[in-house]
Amino acid sequence: MMTRYIDTHAHLYDEHYDADRAEMIARAEAAGVTQIISMGDTMAASARVVADAERYPALYAAVGIHPESAAPLTDADRAQFLAWAEHPKVVAIGEIGLDYYWEKDAAQRAVQRELFRAQLDVARATGLPVCIHDRDAHGDTLAILQEVGRDLTGVLHCYSGSLETARELWKMGYYIGIDGPLTYKNAAKLPDIVREAPQERLLIETDSPYLAPVPLRGKRNEPAYVVYVAAKIAEIRGESVEEVAAYTTENARRLYPKLV
Ligand code: NI
Repeated sequence: MMTRYIDTHAHLYDEHYDADRAEMIARAEAAGVTQIISMGDTMAASARVVADAERYPALYAAVGIHPESAAPLTDADRAQFLAWAEHPKVVAIGEIGLDYYWEKDAAQRAVQRELFRAQLDVARATGLPVCIHDRDAHGDTLAILQEVGRDLTGVLHCYSGSLETARELWKMGYYIGIDGPLTYKNAAKLPDIVREAPQERLLIETDSPYLAPVPLRGKRNEPAYVVYVAAKIAEIRGESVEEVAAYTTENARRLYPKLV
């Protein structure tokens, strides 16, 4: 039987795929990546990923506003999220969170926090899990989740926090998403975190078109390459790649029950 993977985080509406989107998805399926969650990061992108999920059987959608596009959530936005959440292929609220790497302005960081809280509330109202972006904002992200995220489930995508923070997240039932940076020479503390993670808290993802794993680092990423992430996890943890594929797939289906 073919080894099966789920790429739990990709941005497939991106214009870099406009010339070969169908072929790129077919390559993923040929590599065993039979389900892919395509992330929205603005209202327009969210509409686009829902449309793509209707068009391509392998694609599922997450809808949300990324912190880099943060503005106060309007009543119309919230109503649109609630409507999208009814769609059978909309599996999560994401990509949401905080990004203090790109945003240095204190007032705009406060807008990010307000939007993050508002979208966590949307997740609560819809019953959907959350996909969280946290770049250089580990303290505030954890504090907000500890304050208002304890009754939610979700993933810290492209995990870049500390082992101590990861342990707090695992205790709360959150997952961490692992992608290309695990394969990089400057992966720093990430291999130790992956080694220590409970099997049932790990997800694999590509964050396509960004962060292509070694040996494709620097190229356009695509979901087929999630197999390199799984292979690196297997190497670090002393497991077989089949085992990693099996438990990460099981984890994704537990976190995202609408993946069928
Ligand atoms: Ni992303």
